Amino acid sequence: MRFKTLSIHAGQHPDATYGAVITPIYQTSTFAFRGADNPPPFDYSRSGNPTRKALEDCIAALEGGKYGFAFGTGMAAETTFFAMYGPGDHLIVHDDLYGGTYRLLTKVIRQKGVAVDFVNLRDLDALRKTIRKETKCIWLETPTNPLMNLLDLESIARIAKQHGIVTACDNTFCSPYFQRPLDFGIDVVMHSTTKYLNGHSDIVGGALITNDDDLGKQIAFLLNAMGTCAGPMDCFLVLRGIKTLAVRMEEHNANALEIAHWLEKNPKVEIVLHPGLESHPQHALAKKQMKGYGGTFSFKVKGGRDEAFRLVSNTKLFQLAISLGGVESLIEHPWTMTHSSMPEDARAAAGITHNLIRVSVGIEDIADLIEDLEHAFTHV
Ligand SMILES: Cc1ncc(COP(=O)(O)O)c(C=O)c1O
Repeated sequence: MRFKTLSIHAGQHPDATYGAVITPIYQTSTFAFRGADNPPPFDYSRSGNPTRKALEDCIAALEGGKYGFAFGTGMAAETTFFAMYGPGDHLIVHDDLYGGTYRLLTKVIRQKGVAVDFVNLRDLDALRKTIRKETKCIWLETPTNPLMNLLDLESIARIAKQHGIVTACDNTFCSPYFQRPLDFGIDVVMHSTTKYLNGHSDIVGGALITNDDDLGKQIAFLLNAMGTCAGPMDCFLVLRGIKTLAVRMEEHNANALEIAHWLEKNPKVEIVLHPGLESHPQHALAKKQMKGYGGTFSFKVKGGRDEAFRLVSNTKLFQLAISLGGVESLIEHPWTMTHSSMPEDARAAAGITHNLIRVSVGIEDIADLIEDLEHAFTHV
């Protein structure tokens, strides 16, 4: 089956009892045994739940993976993944990524005795030089949040394989509709399903997907041992959201690209960071490994914090809010909002400046969105 068909059908079958076409919400903690030595297919919802299994199988199919796992949040997925590593292990992490991932690694994972090096992974020589015999994992995010830098999935996966290192990629921004890291040799894909996969800003959730039997076993064990799973109601909502993923992503992509072109011509804008623009330094790589660009990107207004604040405070349709990937448009100021958990020097080193603004372009009418920005720019 092809992507659009999988997004509606993968992992889902008419309910055996009543034939419900849509996967029911199995809102139960436990399941009755048919006899002391005759357990049901699911026995306890932390270990497994039919609604969650439908979502896990669907997400795995969309990413081209054998095993999918659904978590309570994107951060729960990451926490479970990083629990595979312990004292003496070394992780290499891209130096420009979601602030919450940075906080987890620097404030929690390092405290367990795991060494974490943040490296600019666009520089493959720097990656090669940082690898040591204790290196167990390379963690990527592409495009990066919020700077929209890209990492070369195929090259990084090749280098990692030469050294027996696991690669994991946060694929939240693109969703599997526009980018499938496993196809380029990456071992594990991570999602904040809170974003495009669910698409309606009404749950938080996360996912991990892999093709590797051993990693699949370890993640399944940790999910159950740590209890980081998603609840049935949230799984139902993500499963419903995924049914329209393809059509939503096309609309997000078209709207965002049009706004990016419009901003590029705006004299009050210093630079637009969008991999679909020919001005993006990695546009060729974008075309190689992405089928589209999604709805989230960033730009810098001319000036500093005051100009940025005036812009984000004067939109009406674009709500001033963190998060992204919902049908409604959002605008935010990474320095003070999404990335405030990173130390100032780390923000500055990554290139997150006071005049940087991130938008998550929704699927409203493009003319209304541009009018809204046009009006807000009159205050800058
Ligand atoms: C790229 C990326 N990864 C991970 C996360 C964390 O996901 P969650 O908020 O669902 O825990 C986010 C949240 O904004 C994100 O943008």
